[in-house]
Amino acid sequence: MPAHIAGTLHATPAPVWLPYPDDVNALLPSLWSDNVTKTDDGVLTIAGHSVTDLAEQYGTPTLVMDAADFRTRAETYLTTFTSAFSPEKGLAGADVFYAGKAFLCTAVARWVHEAGLGLDTCSLGEMMIARAAGIPGDRVGLHGNSKSVAELEYALDYGVGRIFVDSLDEITRLEAVAAAKGVFAPVMLRVTVGVEAHTHDFIATAHEDQKFGLSLADGTAARAAQMVADSAHLRLDGLHSHIGSQIFDISGFQVAAARVLAFRAEVMAEHGIDLPDVDLGGGFGIRYTSQDTPIPVAEMAEELAAVVLKECRGLGTNVPRVSIEPGRAIVSPAVFTLYEVGTVKEVSTDSGTRTYVAVDGGMSDNIRTALYDADYSCTLANRASGAEPAIVRVVGKHCESGDIIVRDEYMGADVTAGDLVAVPSTGAYCRSLASNYNHLPRPGVLAVEADRVEWIVTPEDHSQMFATDPGMVGGEQENR
Ligand SMILES: Cc1ncc(COP(=O)(O)O)c(C=O)c1O
Repeated sequence: MPAHIAGTLHATPAPVWLPYPDDVNALLPSLWSDNVTKTDDGVLTIAGHSVTDLAEQYGTPTLVMDAADFRTRAETYLTTFTSAFSPEKGLAGADVFYAGKAFLCTAVARWVHEAGLGLDTCSLGEMMIARAAGIPGDRVGLHGNSKSVAELEYALDYGVGRIFVDSLDEITRLEAVAAAKGVFAPVMLRVTVGVEAHTHDFIATAHEDQKFGLSLADGTAARAAQMVADSAHLRLDGLHSHIGSQIFDISGFQVAAARVLAFRAEVMAEHGIDLPDVDLGGGFGIRYTSQDTPIPVAEMAEELAAVVLKECRGLGTNVPRVSIEPGRAIVSPAVFTLYEVGTVKEVSTDSGTRTYVAVDGGMSDNIRTALYDADYSCTLANRASGAEPAIVRVVGKHCESGDIIVRDEYMGADVTAGDLVAVPSTGAYCRSLASNYNHLPRPGVLAVEADRVEWIVTPEDHSQMFATDPGMVGGEQENR
């Protein structure tokens, strides 16, 4: 049975932000990476490769990365911030560290390094990837609110350039590790600036009542600075603030920068030291759907440079070198997830009929909708639809009713089993948060360029997934 046409009495209403499409087959260009387009017959292509061919050869679900687009975004962040913070403009230069938590594998780490960016890590595993990719330790940062002794030892052996200290306990632990090795540990203090970022609670990180950072308000940050300054094995290089993620309001960053710089002035005066670095974190919002209005990179860079200059002048301090840590803004728009439709079902709700399009993945490859109420968009990817647009909900195949990938989107009402659906901007926090829920192997990440298609993360097979279950090793190991 075809889905109800949107706008009839019996279809569920569209959310107010979602406009009825002029052409349901058209791509909203700002949601897709540079090299993605559609052919006249409605087939999605990336760098000249059709997704129908990719699906046939590589399977679904697959995260498909526009590798050239990723590299361009990384380079754009670096050149834009370097230019905005240049010494000719009275500033002291800028660094960009890609936040590997968004998505990391050795290929991505290499591309980031080749583009001139540093890499932020927050675990032993992420540092191991950075090292395997050939990134020198001094281009790597280590974050984390509960770093183990093993992680701190590894960081010092690797020569990690900045260890972001997040608690007083960690200062004691790091000092002991550095003392045992007879080295200086380079420390940045992660401070909590008390900014309420307007984003989902679970991705806001600079208000007081959450686990990250050292509070400016209650004096913990000042105590931490004292401890590091007094230590014979720790070197205080600077301060760090990260107010949260998917932020569209520049004022949060401006207030955070002003508070960090004021605290920097106090620490420098109190301890008679210079703090050459200030890291203003990541969190720059991106466009997942037409309702999102990201701040252009150049505007963000210019505004932050202006605030740093103004505050330092007002405080009478020198200007620090500034770094930022974007993850999502670099990788997310470069990737879409390609799914095959398994079933289409119409369900009666209080507000009308809703069409559920169930695909061959779900919350195990994209938990963000369930975790953060994230909104995504999607398109029918293997053909053009001549049917009326209908509101659909794209769901996964897991045993949870919250297993939703795209809450609301228009799609041709004739969408059917066997069709391909592509969901844009899934590069960040999808594969990196993937799970084996319901014992589904995690999907691979396919890097696509005009002359090259290659796995940068291979799809997990059942034998790899079962390798941790002694009862399955050597047993049934059917691949997908
Ligand atoms: C300390 C820190 N820096 C950078 C980031 C990257 O944020 P985003 O991917 O939103 O840019 C995060 C994200 O959680 C973070 O915790």
